[in-house]
Amino acid sequence: MAHILVTGGAGYVGAVVTARLQQAGHSATVVDNLSTGHRAAVSGARLVEADLEDDAALEGIFSAESFAGVVHFASHCRVEESIVHPVKYFRDNVGGSLKLFDAMLRHGVKALVFSSSCAVYGEPSQVPITEDQPLDPINPYGESKLFVERILKAYQRAYGMRSVSLRYFNACGAAVDGRLGESHHPETHLIPLVLRAAADGDYALTLFGNDYPTPDGTCVRDYIHVEDLATAHLAALKRLLEGMGREVYNIGTGNGLSVRQIIESAQRVTGSRVRHTVGPRRDGDPPVLVADASRAKSALGWTPRYSDPATILGTAWNWFRNPRY
Ligand SMILES: NC(=O)c1ccc[n+]([C@@H]2O[C@H](COP(=O)([O-])OP(=O)(O)OC[C@H]3O[C@@H](n4cnc5c(N)ncnc54)[C@H](O)[C@@H]3O)[C@@H](O)[C@H]2O)c1
Repeated sequence: MAHILVTGGAGYVGAVVTARLQQAGHSATVVDNLSTGHRAAVSGARLVEADLEDDAALEGIFSAESFAGVVHFASHCRVEESIVHPVKYFRDNVGGSLKLFDAMLRHGVKALVFSSSCAVYGEPSQVPITEDQPLDPINPYGESKLFVERILKAYQRAYGMRSVSLRYFNACGAAVDGRLGESHHPETHLIPLVLRAAADGDYALTLFGNDYPTPDGTCVRDYIHVEDLATAHLAALKRLLEGMGREVYNIGTGNGLSVRQIIESAQRVTGSRVRHTVGPRRDGDPPVLVADASRAKSALGWTPRYSDPATILGTAWNWFRNPRY
């Protein structure tokens, strides 16, 4: 069993992965600046409150402990913000990753799982999206993820750094045991906002466009449950620790759900009406983003188990009603 450094392990996805790493018998140290993460989301692992751009803090972490690998979640993650404040996305997401990789190389740690995103594809020419489709992000968030993937490619060639970039589609749901879930302020993700509209009669969800070329006119996305993301990370880490080189995998279900289908599922799960209004389309929202995840399924032996709408909405609703942080 291995000792793993998790960056961003106090955040939504990172906290669930850290918990499942520990359940699988690994031990973890989390480094997180708590900018969007929560101290209470980390249990059973040492939490170092530090920024990835703090060289001295990173040096202290790598000098004090010996890691078999790193799982790297820490990042700003809001597409709209990245358009207005690109400096945060290039300086922090790319710059912080470079500092992390420097520290890893100084200390001979050469195995990394990286949280990439389907945002690297931009507006895809074909769906479902395979990993070898053109990489053409349409916002600084996606650009920052692609930059880091390219750094990893060069670092493998030059320094032998082994990595798996997991291009997640839409992360969703909450831990099945109800202990961990999504708690972002402000919240920009669809499912928590849909649940808010179900719970709060004064709040109406804005639906960004209903005239897309999709069956019901609303955008279609590939929703992947956070527990399924966790098993993908564990499988990727296992392969890396066994010596796998550099790989890139889409992590999604291959099934698309429209905004209206999410609203309908939420109404079934909550028993409440989801009030909504229709607004204009948002710039850069492709009609359909659905993964072809067959490469991850065959190479990692990974299968999503929790990503059906009832489980996604059920776990998210359970968390919404009883958040721990
Ligand atoms: N949530 C999604 O749908 C989704 C989809 C694709 C990719 N991703 C990627 O997955 C990762 C996790 O996403 P999330 O939804 O859990 O986000 P999150 O905001 O909940 O978690 C990010 C964590 O990183 C920490 N952090 C940010 N910058 C840091 C820095 N410079 N130094 C130290 N800690 C820092 C934050 O405090 C937070 O705990 C991100 O890299 C994100 O880009 C997420």
